[in-house]
Amino acid sequence: MSTDPIAEFKTKQRETWTMGNFGDLAVFTTAVAGHLVNFAGVIGGQTVLDVGTGTGVVAITARRKGAKVNGLDLTPALLAQARDSAAVAGLGDINWKEGDAEALPYQDASFDVVLSQFGHMFAPRPEVALAEMLRVLKPGGIVAFATWPGEQLIGRMFGVNAQYIAPPQGIVSPVQWGDVAIVRQRLGNSVTHLHFERGIMGIPTLSPQHLRLFQEAKAGPFIRTALALQTDPTKLAAWRQELDELIGEYLRDNIVRHEYLLTRAIKI
Ligand SMILES: C[S@@+](CC[C@H](N)C(=O)[O-])C[C@H]1O[C@@H](n2cnc3c(N)ncnc32)[C@H](O)[C@@H]1O
Repeated sequence: MSTDPIAEFKTKQRETWTMGNFGDLAVFTTAVAGHLVNFAGVIGGQTVLDVGTGTGVVAITARRKGAKVNGLDLTPALLAQARDSAAVAGLGDINWKEGDAEALPYQDASFDVVLSQFGHMFAPRPEVALAEMLRVLKPGGIVAFATWPGEQLIGRMFGVNAQYIAPPQGIVSPVQWGDVAIVRQRLGNSVTHLHFERGIMGIPTLSPQHLRLFQEAKAGPFIRTALALQTDPTKLAAWRQELDELIGEYLRDNIVRHEYLLTRAIKI
């Protein structure tokens, strides 16, 4: 195993997103993909890159607009699902590539639009991932992404996880990408026409416990935390209770409604 903490972090990320079945959660990110692709103004003929494509929901949505699409992800198991999913829609011409947001395998100024939905936020060095996304974008091109705000449900759930399992040292929290002030500062004077919008993700569930169990079965970060707490049943029960109470705050009429942040800007 590598002793480079950044490389180790990425190996762990790959393992994390291979656990469970993220494809079942992508049912909920599918609606956000529609919002993001529309928000970015993707139109036919544009060259589009989707960073951290996962099972390809953003890439496939952009392709259905007529764009020429590339989907990149760190996790080969999810790319395999993306390929199968594109085939269901009869879209065999999306270029899927295994790769890292921090070292994008594309030439400078290759794309009209660079998108990322809950993807680049998981790269360990925000400034490196952002520099790469801007490098491969044409001047005048659009960068747009969806991220989880720290004060909303998913950000707060990550916060609960971090209280039980210490996050790796020296890695900044992914939910900093959900903070408008930090995003503004990170994009700085590389862009113009910076614009923010929020959307609501709705997740049907019969109870907080149903959704927490679903996350524990399907979503890597929650599977990993539950596994790490197996040897300490008291802590495991406390973690579950905290998550259930948190989810309960967002549950009305059998739907958990929580917000995500969309960011859009034009590269100078
Ligand atoms: C929450 S999933 C989002 C997937 C998809 N965009 C969606 O909205 O359904 C996070 C994705 O980011 C990918 N990822 C994490 N770190 C990455 C990195 N450094 N480079 C590329 N992809 C990465 C994971 O493999 C995973 O597919």
